[in-house]
Amino acid sequence: MLHADMVTYFNGKFVDDADATVNVRSRALNYGLGCFGGIRGYLADDGHQVNVFRLDQHVRRLELSARILYLKLPGSHADVCEIITETIRRNEVHFDVYARPLLISNSEKLAPVLREEDSCFIVYTMPLKRYIDKDMIDVAVSSWRRVRDNAIPARTKPTGVYLNSALARREAFDNGFDEAIFLTEDGKVSEGSAEHIFIARRGVLYSPPSTEDNLDGITRRSIITMATEDLGYKFVERSIGRSELYVADEMFLCGTGAQITPVRSVDRRVLGGGQIGPMTQALKTHFDNVVHGRVAHRTEWLTPIWR
Ligand SMILES: Cc1ncc(COP(=O)(O)O)c(C=O)c1O
Repeated sequence: MLHADMVTYFNGKFVDDADATVNVRSRALNYGLGCFGGIRGYLADDGHQVNVFRLDQHVRRLELSARILYLKLPGSHADVCEIITETIRRNEVHFDVYARPLLISNSEKLAPVLREEDSCFIVYTMPLKRYIDKDMIDVAVSSWRRVRDNAIPARTKPTGVYLNSALARREAFDNGFDEAIFLTEDGKVSEGSAEHIFIARRGVLYSPPSTEDNLDGITRRSIITMATEDLGYKFVERSIGRSELYVADEMFLCGTGAQITPVRSVDRRVLGGGQIGPMTQALKTHFDNVVHGRVAHRTEWLTPIWR
């Protein structure tokens, strides 16, 4: 499906994707003033239904981002959920889909100022299978540091902060790696360019908290719940140092895009035996079953598109 054929929600209306445009003077374009979400819908086993994973949590995070960034969503929580699901429906989606709600400051005035009245809400969709097209990846600690929360709050998923992510990814690619790992200014493990980090050591899972300048991740939180409640794993949330990554038995990245992506090596130190570890594999399988609606007590995390 070409983007030109798709329907996009733009500032109160459903329009052809080609007509969902902003002026070159938009502050969103010039200064990166905005925040966004990234949501997945998974085609169910019946080949027809599409279930959106944790829609409620994604919209909740968008609401909190809007509050921090002086932006305004067009209506109640239920209204925003409905705009997102309706955008997916209007695109007649019967495949794995990614929906991108985008809340921007669309003023064309020169100075960078955030004002609720300049808010413009957009939702577009695209087919999406894999975001990282490899079964295992080699990652490198970036020379770029994650932006501090008191400079640009990464927890808001702000559009502007992805310059930080893009610089780190480019550096990783140029050096022959698949993904970058950010440290905080204090040298603690933060996150990937668009993924959270888990390691496993001696049968225990660890992941750094969102106070390490990373996004408050919905996949990450879901994995913690699945690991502890469904699989009986022990999980500890705490700071992780760089060299701890090198001695991990297992490591994986996670996110709406990345889902669960096993890590083979960090800065050329191969983890485990270079194979997908047992905890990672069990979580991957369970996650896949959950998002496809095969785990009865987790279907409350799914919002069906077709009624
Ligand atoms: C910087 C960053 N970290 C982590 C994630 C993963 O977060 P979530 O699981 O909420 O999609 C994302 C988004 O996918 C992201 O952009």
